[in-house]
Amino acid sequence: MIGIFDSGVGGLTVMKEIIKVLPEYDYLYLGDTARVPYGNRSREVVMKFSEEAIEWMFKRGAKLVIVACNTASAFALRHLQDKYLVERGVKDKKILGVIRPTVEAVIKMKFDRAGVVGTRGTINSKAYDKEFEKLGHNIKICSAACPLLVPLIEENWYKKPEAIMILKKYLKDLKDCNVKALILGCTHYPLMMKDFKRIMGKRVKIVSSAEETAKSLVDYLKRHPEIEKLLKKGKKREFCVTDSPDSFRCFAEHLMGKINKVEHVEL
Ligand code: DGL
Repeated sequence: MIGIFDSGVGGLTVMKEIIKVLPEYDYLYLGDTARVPYGNRSREVVMKFSEEAIEWMFKRGAKLVIVACNTASAFALRHLQDKYLVERGVKDKKILGVIRPTVEAVIKMKFDRAGVVGTRGTINSKAYDKEFEKLGHNIKICSAACPLLVPLIEENWYKKPEAIMILKKYLKDLKDCNVKALILGCTHYPLMMKDFKRIMGKRVKIVSSAEETAKSLVDYLKRHPEIEKLLKKGKKREFCVTDSPDSFRCFAEHLMGKINKVEHVEL
């Protein structure tokens, strides 16, 4: 089973993209809706919450967990990989994030400057900048935290003129910075894809971390048949949340269509 972990509902954008390209596998979605948002929390707190989530997902049977939340990927991915896999010598489980595949995709585009938008946590962590550096790519990064977008999207207010106005304000400096690509480094932002495209203009490539993660997972499973063979192909979809299933269901069905069951779980 492939596990998809997010702080709340947003990770469904990642799940949707993954299911589009890999529909045959069983999936387990965990949204930590009781403690969302992670975006304004400290590294320590996000690490602790993410540990609890990963532990729960492995116990529940996930073999490969995608940390769909950009903030959790930024603050906790390395730590989770070290603690649950490297230190324990575990070879038959994997934890992957969303930042590396997105950065790799932008590197292939060969631009000299790119923008990143995300939560305050993701942007302050400079996780995207560090990943470009780690991969030896000397690119100029301009970034902007957009903390109001997540609540606007969750309230289904993102099509309102007020939301568009706020987005324009957030993107102003990035436009002035003349970025050639803009990374949507937050689970929620693909829902405003059209607006990002319109505001940034035709010459800027908008890169969704959800889409790039999905593409890179296809490639990863081809390169790692030893992991691929651990994943069940039964098309099962399980949705679990740490708060009431009702509000999750509403957002989830808006995005994914009809969902059978949403289970409340304790981590
Ligand atoms: N999932 C988070 C992210 O992608 C956004 C929501 C939150 O702040 O928890 O960074």
